[in-house]
Amino acid sequence: MAIKTRKVAEGAEFGVRVAGITAELLEDDSVREEIRKAFVKEGLIVFEDVEPTTEMQLRLSTVMGPIKEHPARKRAKAELQTGLGEIAATPTAAIFEVDGNPRVNWQPWHFDHCYTDELNYARVLRAVTVPPEGGDTLFADGIQIYNDMDPAIRAKAEDLRIVYKLDLRLGNQRYGIPGNIRELRAPKDNIAEVAKQFPRAVHPSVWTRPTGEKVMHMAPYMAKCIEGMENAQGDALFVEIWEEITRVMKAYTHSWKPADMLIWDNLRVIHQAPGCDPKYERVMHHTTVKGDYGLGYFENGASIGELQPSTM
Ligand SMILES: [Fe+2]
Repeated sequence: MAIKTRKVAEGAEFGVRVAGITAELLEDDSVREEIRKAFVKEGLIVFEDVEPTTEMQLRLSTVMGPIKEHPARKRAKAELQTGLGEIAATPTAAIFEVDGNPRVNWQPWHFDHCYTDELNYARVLRAVTVPPEGGDTLFADGIQIYNDMDPAIRAKAEDLRIVYKLDLRLGNQRYGIPGNIRELRAPKDNIAEVAKQFPRAVHPSVWTRPTGEKVMHMAPYMAKCIEGMENAQGDALFVEIWEEITRVMKAYTHSWKPADMLIWDNLRVIHQAPGCDPKYERVMHHTTVKGDYGLGYFENGASIGELQPSTM
């Protein structure tokens, strides 16, 4: 073994830490293969004490696969390289109040690209500027969730498909928003305009990995309904399943250090951002790795920019 792994946290059932990865080591095919194997097994890797550069972030990303460009956002800054995105407390970002405290970059539980037909395999996140407090990211493993759910509720969730729509506004979310959150400042970006080009996308609630494990893979952010059950009964079922998911999930909370790079499997792991106080600077860079499970589709066979009247 060229790389040494240890659990991401004591008692964690998924995710490992790997220290000492360098650009030179990543040239070694056997090291790259070990990283890929650890990633398939663990679902999340924190690379510690790596060279904190964009070049290194892109190198680590391409161990897993080719870079995928973001389907809905242009690169945050022109000077960022192709394939690199930025999450920052910009003057255009929404501000929320959580338990009476202002928070920027807060996001409910989700998986990335749920609003489009093609998911991404993975994302590598790096903290460029770490705030003095807050700004953590939470991750939860769909395999652990599936295995630990009450079998009766899990059976109800087994063959559902969930409809998602690109829509980030808090007031438009239908499920999973805690009562202690409200929007203080609306976002001033163009996502709502871009979203008009996106039909609703559908993804299975549970899927089976090529390695055989079943993954509970649904989340409330941008979820509009259960396919074929856009009614009170469907809403009640969504809420019942999501409450069971949150009851059993054993989330890992990552507190960022500047030399960390964290990669997670977007086809398995869901994530949530508690945000941080907008008085602090927080800048995160992400790269997105291509690789889909092939199970998503747009409603009514629509494509981006060709909305069917019934989906608008
Ligand atoms: Fe995300």
